[in-house]
Amino acid sequence: METSLEALLNPQVKDIQISGIRRLFNLIPNHPGALSLTIGQPDFPTPDHVKEAAKRAIDENQTTYTHNAGTIEVRRAASYFVEQRYGLRYRAEDEIITTNGVSEAIDIVLRAILEPGCEVVLPGPVYPAYEPLIRMALAHPVYVDTRDSDFILTAEKLERHLTDRTRCVILPYPSNPTGCTLPADELRRIADLLRDKNLFIISDEIYSELVYEGEHQSIATFPGMREKTIVVNGLSKSHAMTGWRIGFTFAPAYISNQMLKVHQYNATCASSVSQAAALEALTNGIDDASEMRKVYRDRRDYVCDRLEQMGLEVTRPSGAFYVFPSISKFGLSSWDFAVRMLAEALVAVVPGTAFSETGEGHVRISYAVFIETLAEGLNRMERFVKSLG
Ligand SMILES: Cc1ncc(COP(=O)(O)O)c(C=O)c1O
Repeated sequence: METSLEALLNPQVKDIQISGIRRLFNLIPNHPGALSLTIGQPDFPTPDHVKEAAKRAIDENQTTYTHNAGTIEVRRAASYFVEQRYGLRYRAEDEIITTNGVSEAIDIVLRAILEPGCEVVLPGPVYPAYEPLIRMALAHPVYVDTRDSDFILTAEKLERHLTDRTRCVILPYPSNPTGCTLPADELRRIADLLRDKNLFIISDEIYSELVYEGEHQSIATFPGMREKTIVVNGLSKSHAMTGWRIGFTFAPAYISNQMLKVHQYNATCASSVSQAAALEALTNGIDDASEMRKVYRDRRDYVCDRLEQMGLEVTRPSGAFYVFPSISKFGLSSWDFAVRMLAEALVAVVPGTAFSETGEGHVRISYAVFIETLAEGLNRMERFVKSLG
């Protein structure tokens, strides 16, 4: 029963559901001995030289507010990093904002561009944090089901979902939960489709350092796209720095100026100590991801081989650290499959529906876990799958 004061709480916020990842995660303690393949963060520690830089920053009393957009040094380093690695060119002075993780970056972008009634097109299945932010802005998410195109958002599919209310398209590649990247020719077709349209593109490139086939390419590098694209990226995955909460927005000044106001009033600035760590990561640690990338790639191959041996259909991912096999042949919903596997085989994976309804028929397995855990988790999964017949 709602009290009268509860009735006064923002209905948009009350309507937000607890994420499916969290719901599944909350069940794990009920099953002692269960192994978790649900984790969405690197199992590596933050590189030592980055930790040392943060300790020095504390000793040198770099413990005050910084410029709202972050220190000019960290913005210059971010500018240098994305130019070296991806050919993106953004001015440190007025085109880059340092945020509290990519989570906050996504929030300030959406708040700067959305109005009630407008639509945001996004490929599904997709990272679950976009939809609540879209709904809080009284805008509408429009999912493009990518299940029958190997989780690739094709220009043709995208075109069918654009309306005169479309304010923005989200391109989250490499993808959480599928691990897919967009092939260069598809990215070009999408750029050609969107170039002359009156809308923005949010390119969430948080897994850009974890690409196993080919090179990461940003849509903002295509002719005419920089003006309408906001690139978000960060250090959580590339440098195993989830807890430091450092992200960035890269966008032309006319957009960055508006986002900076939102960021100023909700956060003031990112942590000064974390910014010092980020400066080190983006300069002396420009290649820090390469070792991790090799380990992840081997694990990816291992997981995919094991799943195929179990008879599961799997699209071999080319990035991030997730695999998203189909479980539809068992006739169970992805939620029931995950809950039963947890109870009967003591291994946790994330049901596909945690990533919108377009994830039904799949589960997400994270390989950001030690190889021994991964191997035992997959042994248990194999026994469970056999028991289903
Ligand atoms: C696609 C995607 N975007 C953004 C984030 C948020 O990352 P951060 O830790 O930088 O807030 C995540 C985290 O899992 C993610 O998977």
